[in-house]
Amino acid sequence: MNNAIAGFSKLSKDEKIDWIANEYFADPAEATALIKKYWNSDQKLQQLHDEFIENTITNFYIPLGIAPNFLINGKYKTIPMAIEESSVVAAAAKSAKFWSTRGGFKATVLNTEKIGQVHFIYKGDVSRLEHFFAQTKATFFSTTEAITKNMQKRGGGILDIELRDKTELMANYFQLHVTFETKDSMGANFINSCLEQFSKTLKEEALAFELFSDEEKQIEVVMSILSNYVPNCLVRVEVSCPVEALAEKHIEYPSEFAEKFVRAVRIAEVEPYRAVTHNKGVMNGIDAVVLATGNDFRAIEAGIHAYASKSGQYSSLSHAKIENGIFSFWMEIPLALGTVGGLTSLHPLVKLSMEMLEKPSAKELMEIVAVAGLAQNFAALRSLTTTGIQEGHMKMHLNNIMNQYQATTEERVLIKQFFKTNSIAHSTVVGFIEDLRK
Ligand code: MEV
Repeated sequence: MNNAIAGFSKLSKDEKIDWIANEYFADPAEATALIKKYWNSDQKLQQLHDEFIENTITNFYIPLGIAPNFLINGKYKTIPMAIEESSVVAAAAKSAKFWSTRGGFKATVLNTEKIGQVHFIYKGDVSRLEHFFAQTKATFFSTTEAITKNMQKRGGGILDIELRDKTELMANYFQLHVTFETKDSMGANFINSCLEQFSKTLKEEALAFELFSDEEKQIEVVMSILSNYVPNCLVRVEVSCPVEALAEKHIEYPSEFAEKFVRAVRIAEVEPYRAVTHNKGVMNGIDAVVLATGNDFRAIEAGIHAYASKSGQYSSLSHAKIENGIFSFWMEIPLALGTVGGLTSLHPLVKLSMEMLEKPSAKELMEIVAVAGLAQNFAALRSLTTTGIQEGHMKMHLNNIMNQYQATTEERVLIKQFFKTNSIAHSTVVGFIEDLRK
């Protein structure tokens, strides 16, 4: 079998499905039927989704759940979460409820600066390059006016352009390091368009700069692209309450719980193996809301993990302390999010999520997403330091096992009843189902 194909993108959707079904599947008719089963019967809606990417053959479902009772800066929110992992939404909702009776979440956007860079090679005298940059800086602004006009009307635009000498890292390597304010848009297109114009201006103006030698005039732009590392696009979120107020089911001894919790956070602060898993728990909340609101979760992931390494060692995103009898748990994370443009105005479920969140500004969405992350982290640490994580996890996993074995309604009732009082493990559930069916 030859699995390579030329001109695939030019085939129609049906032809693509025919090819893939015949090329890779033992039963092509069955594969085709499954692919088509996931098509939306509303053809216009299906076409909209088909056109988000190239070579679409079908839709890939991920559940959209909601976590209510989030008290954020004194206002209740219900948070939409798109995620496949059992127990994440349940954990978020549990945390939300817990903190709603203890003052809620306080969230504040600290700053909103985005970054883009033109990476270039200049072979010559550095002071002459600096002179050139000082003389050309205004031209970088003026030649991007057509791109920045609308953004400026919305209060955003280019904040500053710096020349950065990176020759200590690599021979002849320099940058235009540019900061932007993009208001309610994530700004990737705006930033990249500005950068590509800077790149043109840089090359043209260098060619015309009389003080440059012939070699110095030949600036080579390697690439122009935004950075997903946004350490000055930060949001801070915090929960706090008197230690005694932490008392609840499974938290009979609140001061012991608080101390153990702080210690668990400390371990993630000092130990990278634990920090990665700890932060993964934070990202369970963050990614789910980022996805539900049509933002780029890969960009968010990359930026946040880089931020977690800013000291030179990968560390916990969240922090906790007990001071004067008050337990506090907080984090600061970078989040470059948008509530206009991109998928936000195209994907019907993204629009639904935005309306559910009462049409937030980008800053408000930063607060909501950070809250979901901290809530998730709280839920994970609370379980880990009390009952252990498996209890809640396996409860949710029970559903997956029942679905895997296509349990009937009657079987489900019996299974749930039995595992209310018996501990859940994959093998015991399967054994129980098999016994029922004997
Ligand atoms: C599982 O998705 C996330 C946790 O592992 C996070 C943590 O360990 O803190 C439970």
